Amino acid sequence: MSDVETETRAPPAPDGLETMPDGLVIRAQGIHKRFGDNHVLRGISIDFPKGTTTVILGGSGSGKSVLMKHLIGLLKPDEGRVLVEGINISQLSGTALTKARMKFGMVFQWAALFDSMSVGDNVAFPLREHHRELSEKEIAERVAEKLALFGLEGTEAKFPADLSGGMRKRVGLARAIVLEPEIVLYDEPTTGLDPITTEYVDEMILRAKEKLQVTSVVISHDIGSAFNIADSIAFLYEGKIVEHKPPSELRHSEHPELKKFLSTWFGRN
Ligand SMILES: Nc1ncnc2c1ncn2[C@@H]1O[C@H](COP(=O)(O)OP(=O)(O)O)[C@@H](O)[C@H]1O
Ligand SMILES: [Mg+2]
Repeated sequence: MSDVETETRAPPAPDGLETMPDGLVIRAQGIHKRFGDNHVLRGISIDFPKGTTTVILGGSGSGKSVLMKHLIGLLKPDEGRVLVEGINISQLSGTALTKARMKFGMVFQWAALFDSMSVGDNVAFPLREHHRELSEKEIAERVAEKLALFGLEGTEAKFPADLSGGMRKRVGLARAIVLEPEIVLYDEPTTGLDPITTEYVDEMILRAKEKLQVTSVVISHDIGSAFNIADSIAFLYEGKIVEHKPPSELRHSEHPELKKFLSTWFGRN
C-alpha cells in the first residue's frame, strides 16, 4: 500500500460513501495499470476540485486516455482506486457503475455524431435514453437551450454533413452536456482542428464551466489550448504526474521533460 493510501484511507461512512475533503469531486489514489509488460500508470494520485478545469498534458502514448478511462470506471486499476463524490468507482460494475457514470458527460464519442440523425435528434439522444418521462416539448426545449449555449440556435433540422467541423464539435459538446452532468471529460477535443476552430472549442469548454459549473478534465497535447482553459495543468510522464500547478506557475517548471515539452510551444511563440 502506498503512503498516500495509508495516510488518507478513512473507514467507509454508514451510507457506504468514503469521506472526501470538501470541494473535491474526483480523487485518484495510487493508480497503477499494466497491460502485459507495459506498465502504463505507475502510481497516479491526483485531485479534481469542484467547478474547475484540469488539463492533463503528456506526450502521445503517455497514458492520458488510460488515466481518463479510470476516472469513469471504463478501466479498473491494478492497484489504487478512484473516488467520485465518495463513491469508489473502481469497485463498481453493472447498474451501480452505469448509475455512477450518469455524473459524467459522454466524452469519448463526443464528436462522433450520428450522421443519419438531425442535429436536434443527436442532442436529444441522451435525453430519450435516460429521461423517458420527458415529453417531446420538454425535450425540444432542453435541446434548444443547449444549442443556444454554444451559438447553434435554430440548427435542429440540419444534418451533420451540412455543418463545418467546428460546428459538429459544438453539437457534440451540446450533446455531452444535455443531461447536465456534474463532470465533463474531454479526450483531445481540439486534436486535428485548425487554430480558429480550436479557439472556438476552447471557448465552449470555458462556457460550459461558467454556465453549468461543471468540473472538467481535459486531455490534451495542445499546450496553447491547455494554457487557455486550465485552472491547473498536470503533466503525465513515465506513468506519473510529475507536475500539477496553475498554468502561470507551470510555465516556470524546472522539470526537464516538461521544459522540453513546453519549449515545443513557447519556443516558437
Ligand atoms: N486496452 C489496451 N490494451 C493494451 N494496451 C493499451 C490499451 N489501452 C492503451 N494501451 C497502451 O497504453 C499506453 C498509453 O495509451 P494511451 O493512454 O492511449 O496514450 P495517450 O497518452 O496518447 O492517450 C500505450 O502504450 C497504449 O498502447
Ligand atoms: Mg489518448
